Amino acid sequence: MAKILQRALDGVLTAAQTRAVETGIDVIGDIAIVKLDDSVKDQGPAVGNAILESMKNVRVVFDQEGGIEGDFRLRKLRHIAGEGRTLTTHRENQLRFTVDVERCYFSPRLSTERLRIADVVQPGELVLNMFAGVGPYSNTISRRKRVKVYSNELNATAFELHARNNRLNKVEDLTVMFGEDAMDLQKSIDVKFDRILMPHPSASDRFLPVAAEMAKPGGRIHYYRQVSGYDLQEAENELSREVRAILGHAPTFRMRKVREIGPRFLELAADIQLAS
Ligand SMILES: C[S@@+](CC[C@H](N)C(=O)[O-])C[C@H]1O[C@@H](n2cnc3c(N)ncnc32)[C@H](O)[C@@H]1O
Repeated sequence: MAKILQRALDGVLTAAQTRAVETGIDVIGDIAIVKLDDSVKDQGPAVGNAILESMKNVRVVFDQEGGIEGDFRLRKLRHIAGEGRTLTTHRENQLRFTVDVERCYFSPRLSTERLRIADVVQPGELVLNMFAGVGPYSNTISRRKRVKVYSNELNATAFELHARNNRLNKVEDLTVMFGEDAMDLQKSIDVKFDRILMPHPSASDRFLPVAAEMAKPGGRIHYYRQVSGYDLQEAENELSREVRAILGHAPTFRMRKVREIGPRFLELAADIQLAS
């Protein structure tokens, strides 16, 4: 694909600009999202058409303006080529997810992380996902391990699509949906969980005390967090300090790098095991 895209962009962008488009491109279903640098903003339609020409599975191209913003973690999108729609169905790990790329969060870059989490879930566990989006973690776990997942999402559009995806992936009997502020979940759920997912790295710190209360003794929490640091060691030290400060004690936990999200800015996961 890279070579074809390079050829299509030849004469439109410089080699360095083409590389930046290639590495920044997200393809969700049949929608491609690029992040054009200010210097090439007015080349948007030419870039979009080159992508349509070289990536036969793509029907729509957007330019993402700025970062992923707000509580619902949304992208601001500028249409640059192809059909004028934001809804698509993405295939990942033998599952399908209908996504509105403008009104919901979804990242195709986390497919391996979702498999990793599903792999460590044990038969019979009760799982809570506090920040479910359109359901990629929850459906992957239920489908692969046939366990019940309580899945919560505050964004009404993402909630609706999650419900649709439960049917698409044949896990509606294994998924219990909630559309609440995760801070209030204890008001409507009085069971305790073996495992809790917190895939909201920009704000999960505020919710960690709630997760700790909703977990069984010995339960596990997958705590995702954006952390700054000159290197991985410094970022891990920072995350470790944060977890201890919030929980008021030092639980057993392991840390992992999930991905790089900017210069000196990493997404890490702390896999926490609470005391029995
Ligand atoms: C980074 S996204 C992750 C979504 C999903 N887990 C995924 O990987 O695609 C975080 C999600 O948390 C939701 N969210 C934000 N604040 C929330 C809150 N207070 N309660 C419940 N959900 C919330 C957002 O709407 C968003 O869908």
